[in-house]
Amino acid sequence: MKKSFPAEDPRNWFTLKRFGMFIHWGIYAVNGVHEQERWRYGTPEKIYEAYKDRFDPVKFDPVQWLDMIQENGMEYLVFTVKHHDGFCMWDTKETSFNVMNTPCGRDIAGMLAEECHKRDFPLEFYYSCVDWHHKAYPNLGRHHEIITDPEYHNMDEYMDFLKRQIRELCSNYGTIHGIWWDMNVPEYMDESVHDLIRSLQPAAVINNRGYGEGDYSTPERNYFSNGFLPFANLTEACDSVGMNSWAYRKDEDYFSVRKLEKQIALYTALGGNFLLNAGPDAEGLFPVQSKEILHKIGVWYKKVRSALTAPPCPGLVKNANYLCTGNGDRLYLVLLEPPAGETLNLEGFAVMPEEAHILNTGEKVTATLEPMSYTLAAERRLRLRHLPADRMNDEIFVIELCFAGNVIRPQKSIAAEIRCGSEKEL
Ligand code: GLC
Repeated sequence: MKKSFPAEDPRNWFTLKRFGMFIHWGIYAVNGVHEQERWRYGTPEKIYEAYKDRFDPVKFDPVQWLDMIQENGMEYLVFTVKHHDGFCMWDTKETSFNVMNTPCGRDIAGMLAEECHKRDFPLEFYYSCVDWHHKAYPNLGRHHEIITDPEYHNMDEYMDFLKRQIRELCSNYGTIHGIWWDMNVPEYMDESVHDLIRSLQPAAVINNRGYGEGDYSTPERNYFSNGFLPFANLTEACDSVGMNSWAYRKDEDYFSVRKLEKQIALYTALGGNFLLNAGPDAEGLFPVQSKEILHKIGVWYKKVRSALTAPPCPGLVKNANYLCTGNGDRLYLVLLEPPAGETLNLEGFAVMPEEAHILNTGEKVTATLEPMSYTLAAERRLRLRHLPADRMNDEIFVIELCFAGNVIRPQKSIAAEIRCGSEKEL
């Protein structure tokens, strides 16, 4: 996995654009239960695959989708061109189980690619390694696998098919910014697949769920294990607005905006990217609740983006309820939980900012330097006062501290530098 990309590497877009939209869409939207309906609900092949005869998304409009995505501050798109069901959302020559053979009859991935190119908007393709439709894929009933006739199983044949499909995706749709693998259940390794992508699409990032190491890791849902330390390698976390399914679900339960904001803030302030998912219905529209959530998050994200995308400043404060980011003359405190009261004390922080305010609202914060105690005469605390604590529950707040000089240096040394500093040393 990569720590970063060199600035001149065409994949470096991935470290600059940090908040992406994930879209799960396929014939599973017809029944509106789950993208893994066949595996989770045991729907027989005949019934499931007949959904393709009803896939007629008359309201699908890539312009509207991209407008919504961009208005919400999102900076790239990952789209499911083939999920575990094996149904292909592009005009593939490799199987008839594809969108051209539905009432829709349009190359959905191609239409999205065209719209993304017009806007110079990065597009990645999600491709499932597991395939419940292709007879050669060894569906042995492991996790995320159904059981299919072993007589036809042939991993070499399946990998040849997969490579031909990847070649199509990387050849027919202009610049592609990534292949987002999922569910390599047999953990089958074949770096030649990644080499193929790299030779055809130099700007494409590859995640760590495929046939080789890949460029970055992909913690999912609430998985979190690094103890609030910045990510050592490139990382992109993901979650969906829906609690049950990544695809459209008729009776979906939705996460709260605050829980999603907290997750986005946590991962991005530690240096990662975040992919937020929603699933359009069978007509091609995003459910009203999904749109509302994405909109609210977008309004918030645009206000705090500068803080979340600034370099992490680990170790500056010990309180696990807030994270620090910053560089040069800016320091940001990302409050994962609202402050307990109207004052927040930064213990041992001995540099007085010129100005402090709440990034979300622009409200000024009063800052004073106080001794920590008379026995620790040299130690000070920065006291941030008059916070509207009771109004800080419904979104993730950020406090911006602006200094007169370049006092904030990201990386591990910051804690020591600031703690030993004083106003004079500015
Ligand atoms: C999990 C789910 C899959 C979904 C993916 C998104 O792997 O099994 O359905 O597409 O998460 O990351």
